[in-house]
Amino acid sequence: MRNRVMSIFETLIALAIFALWTFGGSAIQIGAEDQSADSNSAISRIERGRYLVHDVAKCTECHTPRDARGELIESRLLTGAAIPVVGPHFAKPWAAQSASIAGLGNYDETFVRHLLVRGVRPDGSRPNSPMPRFKMTKEDANAVIEYLRSL
Ligand code: HEC
Repeated sequence: MRNRVMSIFETLIALAIFALWTFGGSAIQIGAEDQSADSNSAISRIERGRYLVHDVAKCTECHTPRDARGELIESRLLTGAAIPVVGPHFAKPWAAQSASIAGLGNYDETFVRHLLVRGVRPDGSRPNSPMPRFKMTKEDANAVIEYLRSL
């Protein structure tokens, strides 16, 4: 009995490996081709920027105003918002407001790239908390810039 169970188990594993090898491999292949075909296009850079801004760096959380229930107001995406918390008294200076960055706001590309890659402004000073000190790759910073510019 134990042997029968084992051999059914082994057959299932063999089938799973076969299926992965046959179908999984081709799925990975297709994914890779899609990426290389698109990776230089502006559309995919904007898409990556959207992903970084909304889902990874969460710029949206601090740079978008909220309604009375605390939900982000989509029609005013990334146009700057009050920062509704006060930093503890020992914290570094705390900003009362975040900047408008939709369409890049009043900032030029070189300024924003410097800020996102080095974590400081081009003159070496840093924005007040809670603006994080990002250390992005140049490619990611460029994707974020393209996305912001598209808004
Ligand atoms: C945790 C909140 C928070 C997050 C997340 C955040 N910011 Fe900010 N950001 C701020 C605040 C607050 C300021 C205003 C700082 C000040 O007035 O000194 C600011 C300022 C800025 C400025 C203007 C800097 C200056 O010198 O005037 C830019 C540009 C900016 N943020 C871009 C971004 C981008 C792009 C992202 C996402 C990649 C992001 N921020 C994520 C809170 C945040």
